Amino acid sequence: MTAHLKKVELHCHLEGAAPPALTLAQARKYNIDISAYLKDGAYVWHDFASFLECYDKISEVYKTDEDYALLTETYLAELAGIGTIYSELIVSPDHGKRIGLGADAYIEGVCEGIRRARAASGIEARLIVTGERHFGPASVIGAAEYAASARNPLITGFNLAGEERMGRVADYARAFDIARDAGLGLTIHAGEVCGAFSVADALDAVRPARIGHGVRAIEDADLVRRLADLGTVLEVCPGSNIALEVFPDFQSHPLRALKEAGVRVTISSDDPPFFHTSLEREYELASSVFGFSDAEIDAITRTGIEAAFVDEATRSELLARL
Ligand code: ADE
Ligand code: ZN
Repeated sequence: MTAHLKKVELHCHLEGAAPPALTLAQARKYNIDISAYLKDGAYVWHDFASFLECYDKISEVYKTDEDYALLTETYLAELAGIGTIYSELIVSPDHGKRIGLGADAYIEGVCEGIRRARAASGIEARLIVTGERHFGPASVIGAAEYAASARNPLITGFNLAGEERMGRVADYARAFDIARDAGLGLTIHAGEVCGAFSVADALDAVRPARIGHGVRAIEDADLVRRLADLGTVLEVCPGSNIALEVFPDFQSHPLRALKEAGVRVTISSDDPPFFHTSLEREYELASSVFGFSDAEIDAITRTGIEAAFVDEATRSELLARL
């Protein structure tokens, strides 16, 4: 049982955390047919590409700043309810633009949700703006420029997500220069759908402090040593990896092997209802399937706080709460 443990989450896509019941209510409110993407209370997809398509489609039923406030508050309240003290949410102001809401109103809605959740439970949260590879380098640079110029104290990181098989990290390096110059923390989805080369690519082209997933680094022993030597933190999402068939089962998942090789690992839920998981379940898996003791799980949570994209005063407060 991990119910008594404090929790931290560094890798969760906001729209990917949308509870199916809320998405259905939103679709009804706006009279949008999402029956191809949400059936019998579950999101419908069958591989990585169709997952990304489903994600983009269901995101379209969140239309206003109030919709985003409600979505954010709902997810953070769930996290707080299981003992989570800190959450980083991956957000896409570009998506706000695409649906006609606008990037500022999208972010303002999300920030309002954070304020409400913090007032209710004390949970701390920050935002990681993401570019999506499948919308191309220009859109990713646009996302970085938005994050850099927003001067929003809750926006503290920049990420690259989406279709990993599209382009190489170097194609998006300019976006990371912009984000780095603005003082944002950097993280990149790599080594999830693509192999170890994609993690090496991220280190060569950008050298982010963190890597989203990164688990397929296990295919290259030299790369695992490089991650350990650099102290790069992996945002590992085991339930997501199994749902997307990155590994056939939890027994073959490299979380424990990476940790034992000296790589700094954390645990997150990625897009929980899409992958029939939750942060609560990921912590349970760390205990029951990966066999980590409470002290080891606390150490993983501590790594999460150490790697969080927050100012040092907030980091100290979070460490004290742990
Ligand atoms: N966008 C949402 N979830 C993602 C994932 N697991 N990988 C890449 N892009 C994503
Ligand atoms: Zn992700």
